Amino acid sequence: MEVKRVQTLAFNQLRELPPQFIRPDNERPENTKALDGVNVPIISLSQPHHLLVAKITEAASDWGFFVITDHGISSKLIQNLQDVGQKFFSLPQKEKEVYANDPSIGMFEGYGTKMTKNLEEKVEWLDYYFHLMSPPSRVNYEMWPKNPSSYREVIEEYNKEILRVTNNILERLSEGLALESNALKSCLGGDEVELEMKINMYPPCPQPELALGVEPHTDMSALTLLVSNDVPGLQVWQENNWVAVNYLQNALFVHIGDQLEVLSNGKYKSVLHRSLVDKERKRMSWVAFVAPPQEVMVGPLPMLVNDQNPPRYSTKAYAEYRYRKFNKIPQ
Ligand code: SIN
Ligand code: FE2
Repeated sequence: MEVKRVQTLAFNQLRELPPQFIRPDNERPENTKALDGVNVPIISLSQPHHLLVAKITEAASDWGFFVITDHGISSKLIQNLQDVGQKFFSLPQKEKEVYANDPSIGMFEGYGTKMTKNLEEKVEWLDYYFHLMSPPSRVNYEMWPKNPSSYREVIEEYNKEILRVTNNILERLSEGLALESNALKSCLGGDEVELEMKINMYPPCPQPELALGVEPHTDMSALTLLVSNDVPGLQVWQENNWVAVNYLQNALFVHIGDQLEVLSNGKYKSVLHRSLVDKERKRMSWVAFVAPPQEVMVGPLPMLVNDQNPPRYSTKAYAEYRYRKFNKIPQ
């Protein structure tokens, strides 16, 4: 089936936003502005261990979100990551369509754009590319772009670095729960933990005050680490307000996802977030999701529940969690 890409729409001198992108009043950015003067937590990974544990634990509990600096990923590698993503999206449309996905038949990997199923449903102002990054045993490299030719090399290197930073964060989050440092990682499948890459491309939008890049959601992953280009747009929900995340060069934005909220029995919060789009400029983000393999059972950690703290979430295989989330079935 032919899919109308947002990129194709946007670069055709569009003046007005087509109706399927116009959000209802209560969702429009113009009616739900971010709070002024509030900033998200910024955490340097190079501070003393006990301070790092305290800061990460506090941010994960109060915000479910933080920005990290001094993570050791070189600015060169981040630049290369951004270059290969931009190059893919600048290919002729026909070349990109070779990689088209089809979520309706369970084929999630590849080049995608959400479509409306009915007149009421609103869609998001973006196209994306999605694929598994690791572990290598589960990756289908056929699903990765062949052009630019350095795509695979760059993503494999970035994957290694993201895995290293993920291990660090998961260890500190485990310690923050008074558990062994490897506790959370082993609940996520240990070395079998999965990393996915989603490259989001939000073209310039003729009426950004009426549209959303991505609508408010929490990530179903355990942890999400992302970088963006220099066009801001990410907002996180904190104490009944939207808070805008400012661009910070080479920083990583970290979201606590649903699986860490479940494992920690609610101590860590899966952050509600959304993204806005820009009138003149293209926004892009490179999102790494850290998730357990499909068959792994996830539920509140037994060490964290007792008579005073009963489990607040049910235990289920990640595959079932995903299925329910996609189909909007209560967990
Ligand atoms: C998302 O987290 O779903 C998108 C975030 C972004 O593009 O900044
Ligand atoms: Fe997200």
